[in-house]
Amino acid sequence: MKAVLFDLDGVITDTAVYHYHAWKALGEKIGIEIDEEFNEELKGVSRTDSLNRILAKGNKEEAYSQTEKETMAAEKNELYKTMIEEMSPKDILPGIKALLDGLKERNILIGLASASQNGPTILEKLQLTDYFDEIVDPAKLKAGKPDPEIFLTGAKDLGVKPQDCVGVEDAAAGVEAIAAADMVSVGVGDADTLGKATKVVPETGALTVELLEEVWSEAVG
Ligand code: G6P
Ligand code: MG
Repeated sequence: MKAVLFDLDGVITDTAVYHYHAWKALGEKIGIEIDEEFNEELKGVSRTDSLNRILAKGNKEEAYSQTEKETMAAEKNELYKTMIEEMSPKDILPGIKALLDGLKERNILIGLASASQNGPTILEKLQLTDYFDEIVDPAKLKAGKPDPEIFLTGAKDLGVKPQDCVGVEDAAAGVEAIAAADMVSVGVGDADTLGKATKVVPETGALTVELLEEVWSEAVG
């Protein structure tokens, strides 16, 4: 294992819940209900694609112009930004700091493969930016998760082969993207939702360098 590519929201910090609340608020405004089950389909999915999925759920794909859709996406993002305003290192999920330290000690490269355009800001607030050897810019990608592009770009930027990487994800779309990139995947969360992952752990506290090395070795080595 030469590199670990991390998703951000729901893996490094619990912003997945803020995305959910911000979309829910927008949904209420336009009469589309967003519950936790439907929210699973939004995890890992870009802002624009998330809005399109929400509109499709309410059979309102054709109800708004492009400009109106851009306004709605911007409004959701403004609400989301107020929610992340006060974030600090105390918001790093359990086990993540120790994992990043362990990876650094062993000279294993660290990359960020998040669809969020707020990713770099959040890493700054968590004071984790310096751990990351590469941060993929999602604005430069052609396709979002479950397409493997974000993980393949991360591996390329780090100068490693996909087979030498482990990807860590909390979303079904993300686990699919990692698998399509021909990488070993570790899912954090519900085994029913993340069943396609090489290994699923219930929470971030279970993520250790030893575990990632073991999962990678068993799958590839
Ligand atoms: C991540 C989250 C999604 C979010 C996407 C875009 O993948 O899991 O819920 O929609 O990033 O985030 P952004 O901050 O750019 O709106
Ligand atoms: Mg996520």
